[in-house]
Amino acid sequence: MKIKSAEFVMSNSDVTKCPNNAIPEYAFIGRSNVGKSTLINMLTSRKSLAKTSGRPGKTQLINHFIINKNWYLVDLPGYGYARVSKSEKKKFQKFITNYFEQRKQLVSAFVLVDIRHEPQPIDLEFIQYLGEKEIPFSIVFTKADKLKPKAINRNVKAYSNELLKTWEELPQLFVTSSSKAIGKDELLEFIDATNEE
Ligand code: GTP
Ligand code: MG
Repeated sequence: MKIKSAEFVMSNSDVTKCPNNAIPEYAFIGRSNVGKSTLINMLTSRKSLAKTSGRPGKTQLINHFIINKNWYLVDLPGYGYARVSKSEKKKFQKFITNYFEQRKQLVSAFVLVDIRHEPQPIDLEFIQYLGEKEIPFSIVFTKADKLKPKAINRNVKAYSNELLKTWEELPQLFVTSSSKAIGKDELLEFIDATNEE
């Protein structure tokens, strides 16, 4: 798929105020600092469509971007950010779960995980949650530029093995690097294919 246009639509903390139409959407979720906003910029070839930062906790709202005037990319706040207060964390969690449970237009979620780390409970719990709610998702490994091919394969394998402890089948897995534009075509192709169904 060629990206012809990518525009910011709105930011919201309330899912009921998100765009009210039937345009299909794809949401990016994962720990703070995993690279959600950077991945959105990489996919759209726009340098600063979504705001990024080296410090976790940059994205704090539900952000809708309209792509090619026919589907939405949604940038979400990260979970697991240690430096916000407990009540802040609860508030975030609430609007993230509200988003996933109420957004009927959501075609699929992308759960981003840093390829360098071994499976983290917080991500596995979130994946479990999506499964329980029957929300379609795939897993996107980020920052692949930080590892050599052998280590990438090893870590993807380890993650797959961890998932197979609770899942009969593996979800779709993507290996990406935003700095090297790895995985871009595969992700856009996946979106294209699922968007037409
Ligand atoms: P929050 O909005 O805080 O939840 O974070 P986020 O998941 O949106 O992360 P963001 O895109 O802001 O990126 C966090 C940091 O990771 C930034 O310093 C990025 O430059 C860096 N980063 C993101 N993707 C990659 C990647 O593929 N490779 C490398 N080397 N760094 C990356
Ligand atoms: Mg962000």
